Amino acid sequence: MRKYRINGGVRLSGAVDISGAKNAVVAILPAALLADEPCRIENIPNIKDVATSLLLLESLGAKVDRINEHTVEIDPTTVNTCEVNDDLARSMRASYYFIGALLGKSGRARVPMPGGCWFGERPMDLHLKGFRALGAEVTPVEGDCIEVQSNQLMGNSIYLDTVSVGATVNIMLAAVRAMGMTIIENAAKEPHIVDLANFLNTMGADIRGAGTDVIKIRGSQYLHSAHYSIIPDQIEAGTYMAMAVATKGDVLVRNVIPKHLESITAKLIEMGAWVEEMDDAVRVRCNTPLQRCNIKTMPHPGFPTDMQPQIAVLLCLAEGVSHITEGIWENRFRYTEELNRMGAKIEVNGNSATITGVEKLSAANVTSYDLRAGAAMVIAGLAAEGVTEIDNIRYIERGYENIVQKLVRLGAEISLIDDDEE
Ligand code: EPZ
Repeated sequence: MRKYRINGGVRLSGAVDISGAKNAVVAILPAALLADEPCRIENIPNIKDVATSLLLLESLGAKVDRINEHTVEIDPTTVNTCEVNDDLARSMRASYYFIGALLGKSGRARVPMPGGCWFGERPMDLHLKGFRALGAEVTPVEGDCIEVQSNQLMGNSIYLDTVSVGATVNIMLAAVRAMGMTIIENAAKEPHIVDLANFLNTMGADIRGAGTDVIKIRGSQYLHSAHYSIIPDQIEAGTYMAMAVATKGDVLVRNVIPKHLESITAKLIEMGAWVEEMDDAVRVRCNTPLQRCNIKTMPHPGFPTDMQPQIAVLLCLAEGVSHITEGIWENRFRYTEELNRMGAKIEVNGNSATITGVEKLSAANVTSYDLRAGAAMVIAGLAAEGVTEIDNIRYIERGYENIVQKLVRLGAEISLIDDDEE
């Protein structure tokens, strides 16, 4: 089995370059289907979810030309089916964005229902409510798939009962080719929502209000080619900031948008770290004992749920008792079992965790339950004394480009091993 092996206790130092945002690119690649001409997209991260998304585009008949590791040209004019490849789609939850994109493009989509995740039920009711509001019929079909169909999508006002990134994205994708105006109320405001709106507007769409809780989309008859660059990944950046603090290091995190990191920066400063903001970088240092604090994860601009496991590792090493309340997912604390095996003191009660700081963490063999839980295991391994091995690293590779190389360049003693070969 492939694992990461980390010899912890090394202070990280130097500079790390952040890649394009995973949660933006998995929405923007399907969105390229909506154009009537080829699109060029730059700063795409070299991660497994991008590889899966490009294969899905090709399986629909689109021409995909990988200009280089971080640039792709997509020609959607050769698409010849609305049925998404089953195996590929089931391997990535975000494949459900192809429903909104295909519905907007050709009025029909057939996609397998996405899998759940370790952190509880992940429904799609708001996505389907949005498609129906635009005039589409939603039909469950054999093989645990859904078929969504409409002869002519008509703009409408849609209120999202819960703030949902996925539903906001999927409704935008369908609405951009509908007749008339669509208004999404209680919309998600994450940076990747704004990035998607900017991409679609670059191809001639008329989307206003992205980044606020009311997004207005006037449907377009024709969308021309677009040349676009993906924003930096807010969560990858926050993860490396947490790594710098966990190892009492001094790291320059480059190619970021500091405004996207405000809630993370505020919490690291509250814990006693030192964060200097520049135009497109942040420098993170820590050489004092960490202080306790409380975290409540919220929709943007609140503290991001996708940084919850990573910040928990820092709270394990802080003086005093801290509390985390998970405000988005019903159970995103499974990783705490692994941290407790490394000597942490975490008690979970429903959607909240109480963390009593300890002097240090001890190395152990641990598993990654999901993408961000795996990132937390890496942070814990970097901070712990001794050799930590982390398995199920395929989750981590879904969202972190070249994490081993980036960490080695910061001085970490980390390597990718395959113990089947050893
Ligand atoms: C996106 O997931 C992200 N994934 C997640 O990041 C992130 O945790 C989440 O947004 C919250 O920010 C991608 O962008 C690919 P939601 P998504 O719809 O869209 C409920 C990562 O680590 N809900 O905003 O699936 C839902 O149960 C991943 O990068 C409904 O009730 O999340 C949850 O409680 C993990 N009905 C809340 O809304 C629906 O139809 C927020 O979910 C949809 C969602």
